[in-house]
Amino acid sequence: MDPQRLPMGPSHTRRALAHWPPADEDISSAELQPAQVPIRRLHIKVAPPEGTSISVSHSIHSDLANRLPLIPSSPHPPSTTSLEASTATMGSTNVEFKNPATATILEAVKARRTVYGLKPESPVSDEVIESIVRDAVLHVPSSFNTQTSRVVLLLKDEHKKVWDIALQAMEGLVAAGALPKEAYESSTKPKLEGFRAGYGTVLFFVDYDALKDIKEKFALYADKFDPFALESNAMSQYLVWTALTSEGFGANLQHYSPLIDEQIQQTWNLPASWKLDAQLVFGTPTAAAGEKAFAPIDDRFKVFGKSA
Ligand SMILES: Cc1cc2nc3c(=O)[nH]c(=O)nc-3n(C[C@H](O)[C@H](O)[C@H](O)COP(=O)(O)O)c2cc1C
Repeated sequence: MDPQRLPMGPSHTRRALAHWPPADEDISSAELQPAQVPIRRLHIKVAPPEGTSISVSHSIHSDLANRLPLIPSSPHPPSTTSLEASTATMGSTNVEFKNPATATILEAVKARRTVYGLKPESPVSDEVIESIVRDAVLHVPSSFNTQTSRVVLLLKDEHKKVWDIALQAMEGLVAAGALPKEAYESSTKPKLEGFRAGYGTVLFFVDYDALKDIKEKFALYADKFDPFALESNAMSQYLVWTALTSEGFGANLQHYSPLIDEQIQQTWNLPASWKLDAQLVFGTPTAAAGEKAFAPIDDRFKVFGKSA
């Protein structure tokens, strides 16, 4: 377990951390380099939920310590070439789509990766970034069209504030004796500074309060609405991540809630009902995504009723 995540901080932090992170905490740690995350079924919680349709290899690593460090080294100019290369590596089946846009969508899906090496430059205008995020907020579906996702786009200096808040929160844990200073200096701090070195952060929130009426109306499903809201939020995250990649960004997804929640809410004067879920960090890539292992697709996917 990452010591920075031990629920041993000041009492409010401790309370907030009581249910966080859940069993998935090892994937929520930004220390993890996807290439090194074991795919082994025994460690199913750390298996990436990628939905690729292709099985390439089945490497098994079970030593969690092997997942460090996270920064990949080779340069990663996002380009059509790298898109094609990754598709080829994944051995795509040669189907002909009725609409060529389908192939383009799937290329974008395959090209999206976790990229940690980022610099504070943008390959596109801020307007383009904003447009992607707006479309995600507007058009990603939600259960019963409840539209519970709330999103904040932070660029340049505003983006840096998020990671200053996280650094400050972690320093608080060090001061409280909940995080060893050495671990902070050698691992946590450089990692957070790596995020700070990006161009922007998208904060994804869920407004659970907006579900009050529908929970009363459909009492039978009341307990489903919160998870549905989170699922819808995740769809937005995924769309923004994929679209930003398609525009030449590298990006990675982080989860520093609840440690940073209060400061985030105060800094941008956000409604208290907005509950932070994820932070998508992006910038111009300075390094490639790590190699990614895939569990055998046949263990994860079945088809019935297919015509020959
Ligand atoms: C729901 C979810 C939560 C994740 N949380 C984190 C995180 O907190 N820190 C991190 O560095 N990566 C996080 N990731 C990224 C995964 O580790 C990564 O997507 C996975 O290893 C597959 O690699 P890829 O993104 O390159 O395809 C998360 C991904 C998902 C889908």
